[in-house]
Formats: sequence, C-alpha cells, structure tokens
Amino acid sequence: MRNREKFALITGASSGLGKEFALQLSDHFNLVLVGRNAEALHELADTCSAQHTLCEVMVADLSNPTDLARVEARAAKPNVGLLINNAGFGTAGLFHELPLEAELAQVDLHVAVVTRLTHAALKTMVAQKEGGIINVSSIAAFQPAPYSATYAATKTFVRYFSEAIAEEVRSKGVYVQALCPGFTHTEFHKRAAISKNRIPEFMWSTVDEVVDASLRALERRQVVCIPGAVNKVLATLSDTAPTALTARVTGNLFRFGLAKDAGPGNPAL
Ligand SMILES: NC(=O)c1ccc[n+]([C@@H]2O[C@H](COP(=O)([O-])OP(=O)(O)OC[C@H]3O[C@@H](n4cnc5c(N)ncnc54)[C@H](OP(=O)(O)O)[C@@H]3O)[C@@H](O)[C@H]2O)c1
Repeated sequence: MRNREKFALITGASSGLGKEFALQLSDHFNLVLVGRNAEALHELADTCSAQHTLCEVMVADLSNPTDLARVEARAAKPNVGLLINNAGFGTAGLFHELPLEAELAQVDLHVAVVTRLTHAALKTMVAQKEGGIINVSSIAAFQPAPYSATYAATKTFVRYFSEAIAEEVRSKGVYVQALCPGFTHTEFHKRAAISKNRIPEFMWSTVDEVVDASLRALERRQVVCIPGAVNKVLATLSDTAPTALTARVTGNLFRFGLAKDAGPGNPAL
C-alpha cells in the first residue's frame, strides 16, 4: 500500500512506535502527525519533509473533545489513505488503588477515540474502495492482566474490534489490522512507571522491528500482526489456555517480576 498522493494519519506520532511509523512511511505517504508534544512533532515533520514528504502537524490532546473533533474531521478527508490509531498509555498497580481518572482516560483513548477515528476514516475509505487502518493493540490483549487490568481490557477491545471490522470491509477494498506488539523499547514503560529491568532481553523488540512487521503484514493483508517469534508463541498459548490460568500466571509474573523495581509512580506495587 504505497501512495504519494495520500496521507497517513498517525496518532501518537511524537515518540515510540508512532514516530517510527512516520519515519518508515515517509517514503510512501504524505503524513499527518498527531500528538500533544508540539516540539517533537515539528522536529519529526522537519526530518520527514527533507525526503520531499508533505507533513501536517496536528497538535491535539485526543482526550479533549474539541481537539478530537478536529482530528476526526481530518481523518474523514478523502486524501487519508492510511489511519494509524497508535496513541496510548498504560498504568500499573492494584486497580482499586490507582487514580480513577487515568483508568478512565485509557478507556477513552483506547476505546472511544479509536472507535471515532476508525468510523470517520472508514466511511470515506469504503466509499472510495481503498484505504487501510492499523489499530495498535498489544500482546496484553490475549489474557486478563492483573495489575494492568484496564490497559489489557481496552487493548482486547482494540483487537476484537479491529478483527471484526476487517471482516466487514474485506471485500470492499479496505484493509484493517490489529497490531499486537509485545515489550518494545519506547517511552511507554517510563510513563507507566513500570520497571524494565526484570524483563529479560529476549522478550524485547525495537520500534523498527515492530513497525517493519506491521508494514509487511499490511502488504500481505494480514489482519492480526504479532511481531516476534516469542510473542507469537506467548499469544498462542494465552489464547488457548483457560483465562483463569492465564490471569493467575500473568498476575504472578507482574507481582514477582515487573513490580520489584517499580518506581514511585507505581505505589500499589
Ligand atoms: N511499548 C510497548 O511495550 C508496547 C507494547 C504493546 C503495545 N503498545 C502500544 O503502542 C502504542 C504506542 O506506544 P509507545 O510504546 O510508542 O509509547 P510512547 O513512546 O509513550 O508513545 C505514546 C504516544 O501516544 C501519544 N499520546 C498519549 N496520550 C495522548 C493523548 N491524550 N492525545 C494525543 N496523543 C497521546 C503520545 O504523544 P504526546 O505525548 O505527544 O501526546 C506518544 O506519542 C500505545 O497504544 C501502546 O499501548 C506499546
């Protein structure tokens, strides 16, 4: 899916996976870069523009209804050929001890925002009989995740929502992907106050590995993309095991592994 006439609209383009999507797509698409960090977005736009890519920067907090409405309107324009719903964040800790606002903000960003932007873009794409949407879910979508309960539940929504829509529009020239990365080196864990130290190196991916896998899956029209062999095995095991078992195992891993070096932003652990 390459089209210099069209734009790829990427949410959360200011860092991590979103920034890498912009860099890898800049040879093939013009770009709409969405995020809150204006400086980081403009710096990225300067880098991508150097390769003769048209770059629009949309400074927007997707939790703000007015900002979201602007991005929705942009996503509905016929020159958007690819939408990447990537913006997201996590929290970690005992659900009842975590601040409710951040839990609800995840539900809003991962569920309502993804639903709205997908709806806005898909209508136009179906009418044009072309286009693609990549919704960033997570390997966390394959089991209940104690100590990250809201995050995993919202990412499960993203996975199944995307799979269902993909089937609806399969014959209409439009492609939808649920991207389910495992642990990936980005700002995500620092922002979630999750320690990276106890997660073994073989579990980690780099942003270029994840984005490369996603864009190759896009070419193949593969609906669920799980980058990395280890993640594929874990997802398959989690998908087939009883959820009571996977919840127990995941909870224990979190308690005895990830939580040990958790920072002050993670008081429940
Ligand atoms: N890293 C991992 O291990 C991992 C694994 C599986 C899935 N994921 C998913 O991958 C996606 C990207 O995360 P990342 O790992 O690249 O982390 P990251 O480096 O922290 O990037 C998150 C991006 O989301 C944007 N964002 C967050 N809240 C926003 C809001 N209210 N409005 C607009 N933009 C917002 C941030 O932009 P601003 O700060 O500029 O607003 C930032 O660009 C997320 O959906 C995450 O759940 C990550």
